[in-house]
Amino acid sequence: MSLLFHGGDLQTASIIYGRNPDDWLDLSTGINQYSYPIPPIAAAAWQRLPYLNPQLTDAAAGYYGQHHCLASSGSQPIIELLPAVLPKLGSQKPTWLPDIGYQEHKKAWSNDASIQTYDGLSSLNATQQINAALEQGKLGHLIIINPNNPTAERFGIDQLYQWSQRLAAHNGYVVIDEAFIDTHPIASVLTQRLADNMVVLRSVGKFFGLAGMRLGFTFAEAPILDQLSIKIGPWSVNGPAQMVAIAALEDEQWQAQMRQQLTTEQPLQLALWHKLMADKGATLAANHELFRSFVMPTELAHHLHQSAAKNGILLRPVDINSSTSLLRFGNIDLNQSDARKRCQTWLQQEFQ
Ligand SMILES: Cc1ncc(COP(=O)(O)O)c(C=O)c1O
Repeated sequence: MSLLFHGGDLQTASIIYGRNPDDWLDLSTGINQYSYPIPPIAAAAWQRLPYLNPQLTDAAAGYYGQHHCLASSGSQPIIELLPAVLPKLGSQKPTWLPDIGYQEHKKAWSNDASIQTYDGLSSLNATQQINAALEQGKLGHLIIINPNNPTAERFGIDQLYQWSQRLAAHNGYVVIDEAFIDTHPIASVLTQRLADNMVVLRSVGKFFGLAGMRLGFTFAEAPILDQLSIKIGPWSVNGPAQMVAIAALEDEQWQAQMRQQLTTEQPLQLALWHKLMADKGATLAANHELFRSFVMPTELAHHLHQSAAKNGILLRPVDINSSTSLLRFGNIDLNQSDARKRCQTWLQQEFQ
C-alpha cells in the first residue's frame, strides 16, 4: 500500500482505511487546530472580481514588515514557479535543498535544474555541507525551509545573510520558506531589510489554521515579484480569502494570545506521545509548537501509522532512507475529550 504523499488527505485515507472522511482525528499536518475565527464576509467579496484590496497590502505590511510583496493562493504555486523565474546557473552550480523537508521544493527544482541535498535533520551538518559547496564553487541557489518541516531544524538570520552575500557574486538566490516561523516571528529574515537575492515565502495556512483559504505571501526584489505575478495571473487570491486575511493579519491580540497558548501547550502536546515513543525505541527529532517528529525504524513507523489509522488517527510518516523513517504528530485540541480518548485508546492498544 502506498503511503499518502501529503498530510491532511482525508479522502484518500478514508478510501484506504474504509472510514467516513468526517471521522478522523487528523494529526497528519502542522496546521494549527485553533484556527482564526472567520469574520462575517460581505456579499461583495463573493460577487466582485478579486482585485487586490489595498487593505490586504497594508495588513501584510503591518504583520510581515515593509517589503516588496506578492499575495498568491498559498505559497505552493510560488514554490512551483521559482525554478522558472530565478536565473539559470547551469549544471556546475546545482540548487541545494534539504534531503528531508517539504518535498514540493525538491519536486519543482528536479524538473528544471540539477539539485544537491544537504542534511535536513541537522542544521549543524547542513551548515558544513553548504559551506563546503560554497568553497568548491558548487552552490547555485540555496533553498532553506526555516524552520524545516518535518524536522524543525533552524538556521540563524546572520547565517542566511552570510550565504546570500556569497551567492550574490554569481547571481545565486537564497529562497527561505518560512511557512512555520509565525510562532517565532523574531527569527524571520523579514525583521531586517531583505538582501536583493533573497526570496521569502510565508503561508497564512499554518499558524492561522486557514490552509483551506489558500493564501501566502512572497517577499523579494520587485523584478522577481513582477515575473511571478505575470505567471500566476490576475485574481489569484479570492475575495473572501482577502477579507479573512485582513482581519487575521491585523488582529495582534489574537496572534499574541495564540503564540502564548501554543507555547504553553507545547510540552503537553509532546507528553502525549513522548514516553511511549521512547519506550518503542523512537527518538525525538523535532519539537515545534505545531508538530513533533520521532525518528524510528521504517517498519515501526509504517506499523504505527497504520495502527493509528485503523483507530481513526491520521499521522504523517516520512521515509528518511530505506531503513529509517520519521513519524510526525500534529497537535490535538486539548479541550476535546473525544480527541484525547481516541489517542488514549490507540496508545493503550499499541503499548499494552
Ligand atoms: C514548509 C512548507 N512550505 C510551504 C507549504 C505550502 O503551504 P501553502 O501553499 O498552504 O502556503 C507547506 C505545506 O505543507 C509546507 O509544509
